[in-house]
Amino acid sequence: MGLLDGRVVIVTGAGGGIGRAHALAFAAEGARVVVNDIGVGLDGSPAGGGSAAQTVVDEITAAGGEAVTSGANVADWAQAEGLIQTAVDVFGGLDVLVNNAGIVRDRMFANTSEEEFDAVTAVHLKGHFATMRHAGAYWRARSKAGDTPDARIINTSSGAGLQGSVGQANYSAAKAGIAALTLVASAEMSRYGVTVNAIAPSARTRMTETVFADMMSTQDSDFDAMAPENVSPLVVWLGSVESRDVTGRVFEVEGGIVRVAEGWARGAEADKGARWDPAELGPVVTDLLDRSRTPLPVFGA
Ligand SMILES: NC(=O)c1ccc[n+]([C@@H]2O[C@H](COP(=O)([O-])OP(=O)(O)OC[C@H]3O[C@@H](n4cnc5c(N)ncnc54)[C@H](O)[C@@H]3O)[C@@H](O)[C@H]2O)c1
Repeated sequence: MGLLDGRVVIVTGAGGGIGRAHALAFAAEGARVVVNDIGVGLDGSPAGGGSAAQTVVDEITAAGGEAVTSGANVADWAQAEGLIQTAVDVFGGLDVLVNNAGIVRDRMFANTSEEEFDAVTAVHLKGHFATMRHAGAYWRARSKAGDTPDARIINTSSGAGLQGSVGQANYSAAKAGIAALTLVASAEMSRYGVTVNAIAPSARTRMTETVFADMMSTQDSDFDAMAPENVSPLVVWLGSVESRDVTGRVFEVEGGIVRVAEGWARGAEADKGARWDPAELGPVVTDLLDRSRTPLPVFGA
C-alpha cells in the first residue's frame, strides 16, 4: 500500500530538478502522475522541447507506475486550464496540484529590464495563479455536484520570497506573492475540500549548482543534504489524505530539516488615540523597533 494509492497528481516543471524528484516520489507511493514541463533553459529560453518530461514518465513506467507527460506552459492561461483537463481526461480526475515550475533571470535592481521582470513573474506568480485558479474551478464544480474532493495544492515559494535575496528582486517578489496566494487560496478553497500549503526548498539543481556545489551534510557523510530528493517526502505527505488538517502554511525544507516558516506577524505597537504629528514620530519609531525582533537578513546582503 502506498500513501498516495489511487490519487492523481500534477507536478509542474517536473522534467528535472526538484519537480522530477517529486514526480518519482509520488509515483513510488502509488499516485498516477501528470509530469508537466516545457523543457526550457534556466532563464526560460527554449532548450530541447519537452523530452525531459518524457524521460521522467519513462522512469515511472519502468518502475511499474502510471504517468503521462504534459507540455503545457503554466504561464499561459489556456494551457494551464488544459493541464488540469489532461489529468481529468487521462486519469479521470485530479487530487493534488504541485506548482513547482520556475525560471530565474538574476539582475541587480538598477539593471533589471522590464522583460526580465515580466518573464520571471509570469512563470512563477501567474503560473501558480493560473493552475490554482483552474484546479479550484474544477474542485468547486465537483463539490457543488455533491462529490466533495479531498484535494491538495502545494506551491513552491523560496527563502528569497520570505527574506528577500540580493540580485533577485523579480524572483523574490514573485515568490513572496506565491506565499500570499497560498494564504488566500487556503482561506477560499477549504469550503470545497481543498488544502493549500507552500514549501520553500533548498537543494542542488541547475538553479543553485554554483551556490550548493560543495555542500554536503555536516552530520553524516553518506547523506547528501542538498539532494533534491530530500525535498519531496514532505510534499508527498502534504499531498496525501493524512494532511487534511494542515492548510495555509509555508514549510522550509532542506536535507533532513522540515521547518515551519512564521510569516509577517504584528509586533510592537503605539497608539496615540489621535493623529500623529510627523515631528513627534522619531522616538516613537525608535522605541517600537527597540521592542521588536530584528528581521532575518536578506540573502546576499
Ligand atoms: N533549488 C533550490 O534550492 C530552490 C530554492 C528555492 C526555490 N526553488 C524553487 O523550486 C522550483 C524548482 O526549481 P529547481 O531548482 O528544480 O529548478 P530547475 O530549473 O531544475 O527546474 C525547473 C523546471 O521548470 C520547468 N519550467 C520552466 N518554465 C516552465 C513553464 N512556463 N511551464 C512549465 N514548466 C516550466 C523547467 O523546464 C525546469 O525543468 C522552482 O520554483 C524554484 O524557484 C528552488
